[in-house]
Amino acid sequence: MYYFGLYHWRSRLWRLVVGVGALLAVGVVRRTTSSGPVRALTAVLVLPLLTRAGRAGAKLLRPPPWALERYKYDALAAELPLEGASRVLDVGCGTGRSLVGLAPHLPENASVVGLDVFDSRVILGNAPLLARRNAREAGIDVTPIRGDAARLPLATGSQEVVTACRVLHDLPAEDHGCALSEIRRVCASDGVFGVLELPITPDGVDSDSETYWCERVDEAGFTVETVRRVERRRGGEPYIVIVGRSAD
Ligand SMILES: C[S@@+](CC[C@H](N)C(=O)[O-])C[C@H]1O[C@@H](n2cnc3c(N)ncnc32)[C@H](O)[C@@H]1O
Repeated sequence: MYYFGLYHWRSRLWRLVVGVGALLAVGVVRRTTSSGPVRALTAVLVLPLLTRAGRAGAKLLRPPPWALERYKYDALAAELPLEGASRVLDVGCGTGRSLVGLAPHLPENASVVGLDVFDSRVILGNAPLLARRNAREAGIDVTPIRGDAARLPLATGSQEVVTACRVLHDLPAEDHGCALSEIRRVCASDGVFGVLELPITPDGVDSDSETYWCERVDEAGFTVETVRRVERRRGGEPYIVIVGRSAD
């Protein structure tokens, strides 16, 4: 069974803790006063906190840490020339969900690198060992490398296909250009870059997310060949798939 860790655990866990604190406060008020108005006021004050805590608790396990939600990686893979690729890099692989999602589309002898900062800011349990273990369970041998997308520790022109799944929006906006230029640098000539992204743009950006990410990919020196939306099965705005080819 896969285990991909808990995503966005800090903010969600914090809201849960606040919710538990609010419940305790209600208990204390009920024990220490019989005043109706005070009890009613307390209830009104804690209700939003409890609602937020309930939502955060539900989101903490959505998707469950063992679930893959394969369809979105299938949608990206369908647009990439993976069947003939011998060197593949997944930037921001985390605990390996994207690697496992891409695994059925990768040739048996491909050399696959999973790069991540491997810290727990976004995912609880994010570590190279977990990425490798999950990938192995999916039938691929992955080399996990600790590194920053904005300073890739890889040789120029060394990768035929590079993917970045739900990663770019996690980078500080000022690093978007740098990270994409780095991805372009490590892409072989005629290499392909595939993005699977959430419909999120940095604060202060007016354009929609498709436009924003296509412009960034284009500025980095890729020719954008494919832009498509992938409906989300759990609701919400669709994912975006963008594919660019290195243009010399
Ligand atoms: C939402 S997770 C996506 C993980 C995986 N690709 C997937 O599809 O589930 C975002 C990942 O980006 C990684 N990340 C954030 N900033 C990074 C950076 N500067 N360089 C490399 N990875 C980074 C995080 O550690 C995290 O593992």
